[in-house]
Amino acid sequence: MIKILGISGSLRRKSFNTALLHAAVPLLDEGVELDIATLHGIPLYDADLDAQGQPQAVLDLKARVMVSDGLLLSTPEYNHGVPGVFKNAIDWLSRPPAEIPKVFGNRPVALIGATPGGFGTISAQTHWLPVLRALGTRPWFGGRLLVSGAHKVFNENGGLVDEVVRKQLRDFLHGFSQFIQIGTVSSS
Ligand code: FNR
Repeated sequence: MIKILGISGSLRRKSFNTALLHAAVPLLDEGVELDIATLHGIPLYDADLDAQGQPQAVLDLKARVMVSDGLLLSTPEYNHGVPGVFKNAIDWLSRPPAEIPKVFGNRPVALIGATPGGFGTISAQTHWLPVLRALGTRPWFGGRLLVSGAHKVFNENGGLVDEVVRKQLRDFLHGFSQFIQIGTVSSS
């Protein structure tokens, strides 16, 4: 069984990025499961707070990352960049630095994103790249999922209603799962 952890970079109740992760669940290959995490409860990074011991919400998310075989980051785009809340959470997960190899090192990571705008979070996804590199992850670049016009792609209840995007999402998940599997096989 391949376990992917999907992390939504939006706290919004009706987030398109969270909806995108939920839409992925029925589209997974057999033998692949997707756990979905949100960032609720993660405080702003404060080194003084960190020095007192990491907050429970951070420890919980870190534990979920470490039992995963790969990360699927569903990123909103804010001002053509990465949303602060999402970067903040990843920054927490990167402390202490000695744990980076265990949390992120060589871990397969894929980026997806949804926006009501016309460019499908392409800038935000690009802005993630130096971060993924700094953390020593193993990013997958074999596919791309840029969901634009998200208010038409999802219904009021967050259900995916666009068949083109459904196929793109299924293909993306298949490619990423294969990438994880190859790494798993060759390293064992
Ligand atoms: C946005 N939004 C946005 N969209 C986009 O495509 N490119 C952008 O640069 C921005 N910039 C931006 C800045 C800020 C501060 C906000 C609050 C929003 C719109 C954004 O895509 C929209 O709010 C999405 O709905 C956010 O994702 P969730 O919350 O639906 O997952």
